[in-house]
Amino acid sequence: MAVVGASATCFFLFSSWLCLCSNARLSPPPESNATAADQLALLSFKSLLNSFNGSLDSWNTSSHFCRWPGVACGRRHPERVVALRMPEFNLSGRISPSLGNLSFLRELELRDNLLSGEIPPKLGRLGRLELLNLSTNALVGGIPPAIAECANLVILVLSKNQLHGEIPASLGAMENLYILDLQENHLSGEIPRSLANLPSIEYLFLYSNMLSGEIPPELGNLTGLRHLDLMDNMLSGATPSSLGKMSYLSWLSLGYNSLSGEIPASIWNISNLWGINIQWNNLTGVIPANAFSKLAELRTVSMDNNLFYGPLPASIGNASRLHMLQLGPNSFNGVIPPQIGRLRNMTKLLLSNTLLGAQDPGDWEFMTALANCSQLLILDLTASKFAGSLPPSLSNLSTSLETLYLPYNAISGTLPQEIGNLASLESLVVDSNLFTGNLPSSLGKLRNLQLFSASDNKFHGSIPLSIGNLTELSTFNIKVNAFSDVIPNTLGNLTKLSELRLGTNHFTGQVPVGLFNIHALSIALDLSHNNLEGPIPEEIGGLVNLIELHAESNNFSGQIPKSLGECQLLQNLYLQNNELSGPIPSLLGELRGLQYVDLSSNDLSGQIPGFFDNFTMLYYLNLSYNSFVGEVPIYGTFANASAFYVQGNGKLCGGIPDLHLPHCSYQFPKREHKPLVIPIVVPLIATLIILAFVFKLYQGHKTRKTRCPSTINIQDHPLISYSQLVKATDGFSETNLLGSGSFGSVYKGELEDQEGESTCLVAVKVLKLHAPKALKGFTTECEALRNTRHRNLLKVITVCSSIDTRGDDFKAIVYDFMANGSLEDWLYPKADDQTEQKYLNLVERVTILLDVAHALNYLHCHGPTPIVHCDLKSSNVLLDADMVAHVGDFGLAKILVDRSSPSEQSTSSMGIRGTIGYAAPGPSAGWQCRSQRAMEQRYGNEKQSSATKFET
Ligand SMILES: *[C@@H]1O[C@H](CO)[C@@H](O)[C@H](O)[C@H]1NC(C)=O
Ligand SMILES: *[C@@H]1O[C@H](CO)[C@@H](O)[C@H](O)[C@H]1NC(C)=O
Ligand SMILES: *[C@@H]1O[C@H](CO)[C@@H](O)[C@H](O)[C@H]1NC(C)=O
Ligand SMILES: *[C@@H]1O[C@H](CO)[C@@H](O)[C@H](O)[C@H]1NC(C)=O
Ligand SMILES: *[C@@H]1O[C@H](CO)[C@@H](O)[C@H](O)[C@H]1NC(C)=O
Repeated sequence: MAVVGASATCFFLFSSWLCLCSNARLSPPPESNATAADQLALLSFKSLLNSFNGSLDSWNTSSHFCRWPGVACGRRHPERVVALRMPEFNLSGRISPSLGNLSFLRELELRDNLLSGEIPPKLGRLGRLELLNLSTNALVGGIPPAIAECANLVILVLSKNQLHGEIPASLGAMENLYILDLQENHLSGEIPRSLANLPSIEYLFLYSNMLSGEIPPELGNLTGLRHLDLMDNMLSGATPSSLGKMSYLSWLSLGYNSLSGEIPASIWNISNLWGINIQWNNLTGVIPANAFSKLAELRTVSMDNNLFYGPLPASIGNASRLHMLQLGPNSFNGVIPPQIGRLRNMTKLLLSNTLLGAQDPGDWEFMTALANCSQLLILDLTASKFAGSLPPSLSNLSTSLETLYLPYNAISGTLPQEIGNLASLESLVVDSNLFTGNLPSSLGKLRNLQLFSASDNKFHGSIPLSIGNLTELSTFNIKVNAFSDVIPNTLGNLTKLSELRLGTNHFTGQVPVGLFNIHALSIALDLSHNNLEGPIPEEIGGLVNLIELHAESNNFSGQIPKSLGECQLLQNLYLQNNELSGPIPSLLGELRGLQYVDLSSNDLSGQIPGFFDNFTMLYYLNLSYNSFVGEVPIYGTFANASAFYVQGNGKLCGGIPDLHLPHCSYQFPKREHKPLVIPIVVPLIATLIILAFVFKLYQGHKTRKTRCPSTINIQDHPLISYSQLVKATDGFSETNLLGSGSFGSVYKGELEDQEGESTCLVAVKVLKLHAPKALKGFTTECEALRNTRHRNLLKVITVCSSIDTRGDDFKAIVYDFMANGSLEDWLYPKADDQTEQKYLNLVERVTILLDVAHALNYLHCHGPTPIVHCDLKSSNVLLDADMVAHVGDFGLAKILVDRSSPSEQSTSSMGIRGTIGYAAPGPSAGWQCRSQRAMEQRYGNEKQSSATKFET
């Protein structure tokens, strides 16, 4: 900001002045041991500090302290410290009170460090101090009133800290104070009236604090003041007219307060004013007709967001140096005086949200006059009272014009062809007016255009082909007009487009495939409410960044393209009111971020896919008026009757009771599967029960620990919270630590079920997220493991993806707790293992072998996707309370993607490699595949077996 810039300059000038003069005024030699006292004070100062870059390392007694970095000694008294200049020294720690012993100190410059703690009141003993700059640190506490005892202080800068409390009234006693800068702290209370007693002050910065009460009228007594900045506080009441007495004042900043009443006329007499900022208050009244007559120095005026009214006086033309005029929102009315054209250096004319306007063509005269303002960058007339046609003189505006905002007016007629002359234009916004006619083809000449928005008008005709030349365009919005014809394929050239809105027009024909090459398209693609027809092209999968797709209320036919599943960021999908048919493609199950989906009023058929019920963000799903059949799911979105709509489908059954649908004729837990024939199922279940019974008998009476109830599964607990895990693991306590490795740490925990009635033991693996691959694969990997379900695989209960107490990302995986540890511990018990002697008999060993073989068989041949474990060893085989073996640690596993496409199987390896898995802790836990080749040699037979499987 200009405010800050100006102050920085004067600090610089003034500091140099200090350096030149300071040595001339030293007093007689100090007592003999004073030198030692200075060294002691410096060492004591150092003792409370840390410096990250070693800038204090050479502060030791092996060299004279006058040569220590940042220390300057006097010329007449070469042994005494006169300045500590340590800006940006990377110092942290606290400021030692011992600095108060450096009795010859004139400059203390510690700005831009990381100092914390309070400002020691003992600094008040520095009677010769002229400059104290502690800006941009993390100092807390109050400003010690004792600082005022530094009677020679000229510059006091404590800005950009976290200082609290009131500004001490004692500061008003500092006769030599020239700059007082306390901005950007948390100071509160009123501005002390005593500050009006500072005879030498010229710069007073209290910006960005929490000061309240009124502006003391006494401040007007500071007739030498040049810069008064009280912005961004909580000041209220009227602006004292005494401020007008400050005839040297060049900056007056009172914005962002709660000031009310009128601006005293005296303010407009301060002929030295460069800037007035009174924006965001509750000020009212009119600007006097001659307000600007005496303000020949004025550069910027910000009066926006107040309650001013009345005309903008023609005297504005006298403020000939004005380059920024920001007046709205306010209730100014009338016309913009053509005298504004005399402001040759005007760059930003911000007049939005006022009652200024144009009724007759003559009222647009200002636009012609503005042609003289050759520096104009921004012209903002948003939401005002402009009516009638744009004058052709619009095209004579500065060729540097970058922003032209005219929306929310009543401007009619066409957008003049000459607008193509405004070659620097980056934003052209004319929404919500009464424009008619075609878009001028000259728009294609605006090569810098990034934003074109013309919605809610009466434009018609086709989109000019030349729009395809606007390669910088990121927003193109012409919705709610009367455009017709086909959508030109040249829009596909707009590779930077992130938002394209063509909705509510009369476009016909097919969607040009070129649109789907615009990978930047993210915010929205809106084709809704047109007469578009034909299928939605499969190429739509190219829009990988798209968040919102509006294609509703057209005549689209054919199926929903499968490739839509590739638009993985999609949140809102609107396809209702078309003629789409066929089933919902299963690939839409990839769109985990969906929040709002409307497929109603089409002719979609088949079953309602089960995947919708685990879309955790989905809060609106409308499938009504289609031809869906079969069971309505009951989980997730389908559990909440107000979140989904299925009426008008006819042959649906099941679902939650609120739907009052008929019962389905079969009940089968896995909804995605076709119902199996009962004759097969019943004997199968019976056999399983008998087997299980026999197995239990065989296992004998081992002590049973609580097992996780089957109710705890991902469907019921989509995610577990960080705090639940903290509770479960007793704050990740050492006693619960099962082990740790490069992947993270594993804790034992006790998890309550939803009612808090029963608990179960779990193992919680907290991922080390700074390991680069850990975060990236987290979701995919969990997904892969979650879908593999086998008695002999370690079960993932749920996952936690959250933020920990320090605000860092936190990700954890919760597994079934394996009470008997790893097989390795049983085969090779550690010598120091205090617990019972571990021993496996032959039967147990064979059973474990069989368990592992079952697990591998499942992974290779019977899981949802074939998985090669790649790191099978005894430490990765875990034994539960019943000594049943579970294979864990999929950290290095390979997923072979698609059984149906054998060509991919040898190359595709994705997902769970080297990251997750609950490994028994031990030296091998961090083992990584050293090379693809080594791994293939080691596990070649596994790979082969799955490969042969594919070829058959
Ligand atoms: C300086 O001398 C005075 C007495 O002359 C003594 O009390 C004091 O401790 C000495 N200070 C140092 C730092 O040596
Ligand atoms: C300071 O200002 C106040 C109010 O504006 C006035 O009453 C007072 O006389 C002034 N004091 C001096 C010393 O000018
Ligand atoms: C302005 O005044 C209104 C009503 O008097 C009040 O609600 C509003 O908060 C005030 N705004 C500011 C910025 O003080
Ligand atoms: C406009 O700005 C230029 C360059 O900043 C300056 O030289 C000139 O004096 C200014 N014109 C007026 C009228 O202030
Ligand atoms: C811009 O687009 C039009 C229409 O597509 C084309 O004829 C013209 O060559 C393009 N280039 C320029 C510089 O206008």
